[in-house]
Amino acid sequence: MVDISAKSLQIFLRDAAATLQLGIKLGQSLPAGSAILLEGDLGSGKTTLVQGIGSGLGITEPIVSPTFTLINEYTEGRLPLYHLDLYRLQPKEVEGLYLESYWEGIDMPLGIVAIEWAELLPYKPISYLRLCLTYQDESGRLAELMPIGGWQLEFDYSK
Ligand SMILES: Nc1ncnc2c1ncn2[C@@H]1O[C@H](COP(=O)(O)OP(=O)(O)OP(=O)(O)O)[C@@H](O)[C@H]1O
Ligand SMILES: [Mg+2]
Repeated sequence: MVDISAKSLQIFLRDAAATLQLGIKLGQSLPAGSAILLEGDLGSGKTTLVQGIGSGLGITEPIVSPTFTLINEYTEGRLPLYHLDLYRLQPKEVEGLYLESYWEGIDMPLGIVAIEWAELLPYKPISYLRLCLTYQDESGRLAELMPIGGWQLEFDYSK
């Protein structure tokens, strides 16, 4: 059992299947109201990770990048999944979106909110999982999971 409530956790993801698998584990374990703030260069695997979260939640609809739609919502799984991508926005534009309604569950059921390019958020949830993906020299990615503001999760990554 991996407890990532206290400190950050680094996981090497050797291929896209490993990124998906980490997402699946998260999707199976995350409680309602979880915010996952994803950071990482272009093509580092953010959408792939959210595709895994979706499948861990039991969503069968294909999860596609919200780069142009800004937000995609999926309601068929264990919890609703709100998938956002802020890449094309200016911080001022992000401010006007009232994204806290997603993680606070105002006017919509609490679910999982996963945000790509979370670096652009001018305000953040009180408690969230910061997940950074970085390219490795040969191939693969490094995932760094950092619990912020007392955020807690236990999940079994070995299985
Ligand atoms: N751990 C990994 N090792 C190697 N390739 C990976 C890994 N994880 C994902 N990929 C591949 O990297 C490519 C880009 O992935 P993805 O679209 O998820 O990135 P992204 O961070 O969402 O990109 P963008 O910044 O454009 O939104 C895909 O071809 C995906 O299969
Ligand atoms: Mg993406």
